[in-house]
Amino acid sequence: MPDDTWILRPQDLPEGFAPDSDTWYAPRVCGTFKERAGWHGCQMPEQLLGRIIRTCSNEGDIVLDPFAGSGTTLVVAKKLGRKYLGFELSADYAAQIESRLEAAHVGQPLEGGAEPLVGGKVPPARAKRA
Ligand SMILES: C[S@@+](CC[C@H](N)C(=O)[O-])C[C@H]1O[C@@H](n2cnc3c(N)ncnc32)[C@H](O)[C@@H]1O
Repeated sequence: MPDDTWILRPQDLPEGFAPDSDTWYAPRVCGTFKERAGWHGCQMPEQLLGRIIRTCSNEGDIVLDPFAGSGTTLVVAKKLGRKYLGFELSADYAAQIESRLEAAHVGQPLEGGAEPLVGGKVPPARAKRA
C-alpha cells in the first residue's frame, strides 16, 4: 500500500492481473482522506480490515491485534460487533486508540468505499511501457 512499495499497479499491466487473482488492491489511507486519523504513520484502511475480520471471525468473537498502532483493527472489530483486545507499546498511541474506540459504535459503517478501487484505465501504449 505505501506509494513507494507497490510500484506495479494493475492498470499498468492489464495482462498480468486477472479478476480472480489472489491479490487485493486497496488504496493506502492518504493524508487527504477523511478516514485519516493523522497521528500514526501506518494507518490501515478500515475496508481492508473489515474484509479480513468478516472473513476470519463471526459476530461476538474476539479479535486480537498485538500491535494496535492507530487502532483500526480494533475500531473495525467494534463496528462489526466483535469483541476486541489490543496491545500498543506507545502510551500516546494507546490513548488515541481509546478515543477512536469511544467514538466508534456497533453497526457503524466502515470508512471508505466498500470495493477497492484501482485507478482509471491507462491507454495500452502507456501500459506496455510499464
Ligand atoms: C505497523 S504499526 C501497526 C499499525 C496498525 N496495523 C494500524 O492499522 O494502525 C505497529 C505498532 O506496533 C507497536 N509495537 C511495536 N512493538 C510492540 C510491542 N512489543 N508491544 C506492543 N506494541 C508494539 C508500535 O508502537 C506500532 O504502533
